[in-house]
Amino acid sequence: MISNFEFTSDEEFLGFIDTYLQSDDKLVSDLANLSSLIFHYLDDVSWCGFYLLDNDELYLGPFQGKAACTKIKIGKGVCGSAYKRGETLIVDDVNTFPGHIACDSASKSEIVIPLEGFGVLDIDSTSYSRFREKEKSLLENVMNLLSKKINS
Ligand code: SME
Repeated sequence: MISNFEFTSDEEFLGFIDTYLQSDDKLVSDLANLSSLIFHYLDDVSWCGFYLLDNDELYLGPFQGKAACTKIKIGKGVCGSAYKRGETLIVDDVNTFPGHIACDSASKSEIVIPLEGFGVLDIDSTSYSRFREKEKSLLENVMNLLSKKINS
C-alpha cells in the first residue's frame, strides 16, 4: 500500500505514515519508503536517510540523495552527537558544527532525530537554517510512529 500523492498538511502526512506503518512490511522496506516520503514531502532537502546502530557506531541505511559515508562513530559528527545526546540536533550552518562529517560539500544545514537502540534519521539541505521547530516536531512524530512499530 503506497501512494505517491501530494500531502496538504503535516497532519495528513503523519496520518498516512501511521497507516502505512501498520502493514507487515519488513523494516528495511519501511525505512526505504519513509526516506522517500519525507524527501518528497519536505521542500529544499538534498539528502534524507537513516543511520542504524551497530555497537559503538552507526551504519548507512536506506536513504534518498547522493551516496554518503557508511560508518559514523557514536559521538562523532551531527549524527553520532545526536544519538549520544539522545536529542534532536538542528544545525543552521554545518560549517560551524565541530566535527561535522561532510558527505556532500553542498550541504549547508542539517537536522538529526535519534531513536534510542535504533539509530537516527538524518536530513540535509543546501540552504542555511532550513530546519525549524515545525520540521523538528513533524520528524519527531515520524520517529515516534516508527518506534511504535519497532517495539510492537
Ligand atoms: N553530516 C552527517 C554525516 C552524514 S551525511 O550528512 C549524509 C554528520 O555530520 O553526522
